[in-house]
Amino acid sequence: MKASEIRRLIQLKPIEADPVRRRLSACHDVSDLRLAARRLIPRPVFDYVDGGADEELSMAANVRAFRKWRFQPRALAEITKVDTSTRLLGRELPLPLVLAPTGYTRMMHPDGEIGAARAAQRHGLPYTLSTMSTTSIEAVAQTAQPDLWFQLYILQDSGLTKELVDRAAEAGYRALVVTIDTVITGARTRDRRNGLVIPPELTLKTLASIASRPAYWVRMLRSEAIDFANFPGTEAKTIQGTGTLFNPTVGWDEIVSLRSQWPGSLIVKGPLSPADAAHAVSLGADGIQLSNHGGRQLDRAVSPIDLVAPVRDSVGPDVAVLVDSGVRHGSDIAVALAMGADAAAIGRAYLYGLMAGGEAGADKVLDILAEEFGRTLHLMGISSVAELRERGRELLTR
Ligand code: FNR
Repeated sequence: MKASEIRRLIQLKPIEADPVRRRLSACHDVSDLRLAARRLIPRPVFDYVDGGADEELSMAANVRAFRKWRFQPRALAEITKVDTSTRLLGRELPLPLVLAPTGYTRMMHPDGEIGAARAAQRHGLPYTLSTMSTTSIEAVAQTAQPDLWFQLYILQDSGLTKELVDRAAEAGYRALVVTIDTVITGARTRDRRNGLVIPPELTLKTLASIASRPAYWVRMLRSEAIDFANFPGTEAKTIQGTGTLFNPTVGWDEIVSLRSQWPGSLIVKGPLSPADAAHAVSLGADGIQLSNHGGRQLDRAVSPIDLVAPVRDSVGPDVAVLVDSGVRHGSDIAVALAMGADAAAIGRAYLYGLMAGGEAGADKVLDILAEEFGRTLHLMGISSVAELRERGRELLTR
């Protein structure tokens, strides 16, 4: 057989010349992106994202807690199109998904916070900027304007806390997400073992890492130095060391004063009981983000997905309930909504994408999750998010 005849029989796929696009096109789920990231990124940086607190019991349990649920689909439901759109805190979203705040994002890839925010914008999803971001509140707002939310850590310096909140309001952020699970930082065992420091110190370990992951270092050296963009002039600190910025004695009064200071939606991130969620709502929170920080704070903390149903029962139907910690697949979003949440949030999932391919990688993660969520609903025999929420609990079994 001649080559021309073979060519006629087999449609040769054009070879992708761009290495990032080639890499991303070989990734078909979040787990593929995680593996691609692990191959590309120096160990201490990958471990900072991938790891959790102490023995990582909560981190592992979070993923299992989503996956223990099984669907009981409705057969032959005559669905022509699945409507994945929803309303969250007064805005229409194409998908019940939010990008959770993550610190030091430019350490994962120079595209950093702006790359993640642009990917969110392209998908019409909210992006939450962390207090510990490596791009400033104003710079993110100027470059990418999705539905921007600002995450606040309550700091020792109350003047500085107030200033951050005012800056976020001034720059047009729509929601303030107050994290309450980090009065002190959790013990990140992998970071301690790896001696993670920002910016990196030149040690034998760093040199070995440069040798094994040169592309990462070339990219980093070509881009602007990493710093805590919202606190100009902060010296390099270990990740553990940054915890000294936080106020360890903070109480609920702070939520009351933030409520009076913040004009937009207020979300309290990190309550882990129906009582604490209801308390936050009684003080004026518009939303609750159930979270154990992805298992990075109190190890052995309960899995947030297990709290969605009791929290929904305790706060009633009008409060926005979000859940994060363990979302790795579109069907996890379906479980969250079936249990009574309004939306799910992701941390590591989009960071794996960012590490694997910058902004295009974060984009890819959102494409994957959107496709998985839509297909899951269709196969469940559910035509819309509203229907999923209405019939939710009868569709889940263990
Ligand atoms: C976080 N998270 C977080 N939360 C927060 O309120 N402020 C922050 O600065 C950070 N920083 C941060 C960095 C990294 C690398 C990760 C992985 C996470 C927690 C985050 O918002 C979210 O709660 C978890 O990531 C959710 O769990 P999954 O999706 O990572 O399993």
